[in-house]
Amino acid sequence: VKLAGAAQTLAGRRVVITAGPTHEPIDPVRYIANRSSGKQGYALAEAARDAGADVVLISGPVNLAPPPGIRLVCVETAREMAEAVETALPCDIFIAAAAVADWRTRTDAAQKIKKGGDGPPVLTMVENPDILASVARRVANRPPVVVGFAAETETVIAHARAKLAKKGCDLIVANDVGEGSEVMGGSDNAVVLVSPEGEQAWPRLPKDEVARRLIAHIAQMRPVGES
Ligand code: CTP
Ligand code: CA
Repeated sequence: VKLAGAAQTLAGRRVVITAGPTHEPIDPVRYIANRSSGKQGYALAEAARDAGADVVLISGPVNLAPPPGIRLVCVETAREMAEAVETALPCDIFIAAAAVADWRTRTDAAQKIKKGGDGPPVLTMVENPDILASVARRVANRPPVVVGFAAETETVIAHARAKLAKKGCDLIVANDVGEGSEVMGGSDNAVVLVSPEGEQAWPRLPKDEVARRLIAHIAQMRPVGES
């Protein structure tokens, strides 16, 4: 899809983006989820499309229309998202914008858990796969550019820098989702770009404008080791 006005900076490049929350089932009628509207990830997918990229958007459950001109893969759980990402590789740019549930219950009850009896159930949790870290740490087919997000409620930059190192990605887009930030579900976002080169704080902007600027920024990033 070519749109007048958007520079075709990603023409011929394949971009894989995760977006939205994941839902981790407890039983057939209940789940654990993260708070995420998916808006920022969908806006990124549209901005990458408008820049000429071939986009695969791997989305958890959201209330957003499928964006035209983008390959949409709908998933529910973190493990499904990890598998869909694996299938979508190789790519030139990977962006992890999803709010992945960090844990799932150890067992997913086949039948609805009923009240009464021994009182409230105790849920034993296990950790979900870290999709961003496993893409960034790949030996074969590591995408040349790997970008993550960090939603933090305090000491945003320090946490983002720690995440950059821990995950092994090339850029962390940090945002403050603390009280009063109105980022979750809202239409604006204020981000700080954290990379090995330093930090860049952007003003509060509509999510689609943040997306356009991020895609422009990412399009000019060079793979590690290249000058
Ligand atoms: N992420 C991921 N898979 C996970 C958890 C997180 O791909 N299982 C990605 C998110 O999409 C985001 C980045 O990792 O791009 C950071 O997510 P975040 O929740 O901020 O970091 P965590 O490493 O999960 O640490 P914590 O929640 O404890 O702050
Ligand atoms: Ca997390």
